[in-house]
Amino acid sequence: MNDLQNFDLVLFGATGDLVTRKLLPALYNAFTHNTINKDARIFAIGRRDFSKEDYCKFALTKAIEAKESIQKDNWDKFCNLINYLKIDANTPDDFSKLQEILNQDITNIYYLSTYPSLFKPICQNLANVKLNHRNSRIVLEKPLGHNLSTSNDINDFIAKFFQEEQIYRIDHYLGKESVQNLMAIRFGNTLFEALWRRQWISSIQITIAESLGVGSRGDFYDKTGALRDMLQNHLLQLLCIVAMEPPFSLEPDTVRNEKLKVLQSLKPLTEETVINNVIRGQYKAGTIEGKEVKGYTEEENIPLNSKTETYVALKAEIQNWRWAGVPFYLRTGKRLQDQLAEIVIQFKDIPCKIFPFNANNFANRLIIKLQPDETVQLYFLAKQPGDTNDLKPVYLDLDFHKMFTTRRTEGYERLLLDVIRGKLTLFVRRDEQEAAWKWVEPILNTWDKLNFAPKLYTAGTWGPAAASALLARDNDSWHEELM
Ligand code: BG6
Repeated sequence: MNDLQNFDLVLFGATGDLVTRKLLPALYNAFTHNTINKDARIFAIGRRDFSKEDYCKFALTKAIEAKESIQKDNWDKFCNLINYLKIDANTPDDFSKLQEILNQDITNIYYLSTYPSLFKPICQNLANVKLNHRNSRIVLEKPLGHNLSTSNDINDFIAKFFQEEQIYRIDHYLGKESVQNLMAIRFGNTLFEALWRRQWISSIQITIAESLGVGSRGDFYDKTGALRDMLQNHLLQLLCIVAMEPPFSLEPDTVRNEKLKVLQSLKPLTEETVINNVIRGQYKAGTIEGKEVKGYTEEENIPLNSKTETYVALKAEIQNWRWAGVPFYLRTGKRLQDQLAEIVIQFKDIPCKIFPFNANNFANRLIIKLQPDETVQLYFLAKQPGDTNDLKPVYLDLDFHKMFTTRRTEGYERLLLDVIRGKLTLFVRRDEQEAAWKWVEPILNTWDKLNFAPKLYTAGTWGPAAASALLARDNDSWHEELM
């Protein structure tokens, strides 16, 4: 496969979950499907003592936990690409080992899958040994910083050593097939464009729900919370794709300029709107799929008095000609009733009703399911057969898994391949990230200032009752409440 670009990939944080459960399985997939160069090298960097063989075994155990389809034989072949290096991110001298081993004539990729507090020392230490050369690219995991100022601080620091075109800020939602399909549905067809605006749409809901809890990530999660972990990045990126103007090409800056404009047109939140329009929740013990599950504060590494949110729902408005006045309801949470991501576009009601009214009927609704299924359902009303004029909701149901049976690349696989190929379209530019932090900052500040306790919700439900009340105030309801 020598027509594929050769590269040296350095994975910082190689013993962590992200590398072992997501990145290596993604690279393994690419390897088994011949989409990466077989001469490429992967340097797993950690502080622990591991031989290459022991690291590969350790990583295989973790990888199989996450992806059962991994086969040992293929993994062993894939491991020929992997080397393990013991390097402490805070020890400058350790970086000369890297400098000696990397081939600087080919693409060098540094993937920082570590706590953001290590981003600065890693960059500094790479630069000390001149590894920030023109063939180098740096990949930054979210959350980048803890708020606007810490994110600016990290970005400023990194900008001393790497040009913006060398920086790949990852949001793995942008790598999902279903999320790119959202762009394709909007900008590859004329069907929806005329209707995709305030004149025809009454509200939009974007949900990322998880039935999983925080698991073993308690230490990280308790410092982060749902707002920083999911809303500031994944949900706002989905919002951008739903709301952006058609870009004139798929060139990175063309797409990113349009996304940026959406973030910049979000109506700023005030203390009052945060109090009224943002719901902060935390799960307590409950039952999911028949199994009892612990409450958040009973999880490993979570203080009993933790106020960290595991759920957030809010109402946002975009102040531009296309969207002014249309509420965008965003929500995400852990230990919810279901594991799904979906976008619900509610078109406006008909101007006058000539058929008998039935309060349970909902129609004029487009539901784009991003995961676990990838479907588009268009709900409308049709006449029930019989001698009355009763209407019933029916839907057109498009299932992309049935339509396309070819292999789907998973989010991280697609994004890693794009880093290797130098394609920035699916990565977040600095100004987008700043705009997103800027918009969520009043929420963080208000919660801090008022010492805002999260509303408890029972695991296995759809979150705090206040989230339903938020929509009820607008005479609306979350999609599942109508089902
Ligand atoms: C990550 C968050 O970015 O996204 C996790 O840190 C979350 O807390 C995960 O579970 C959800 O991603 P996905 O692809 O499983 O929906």
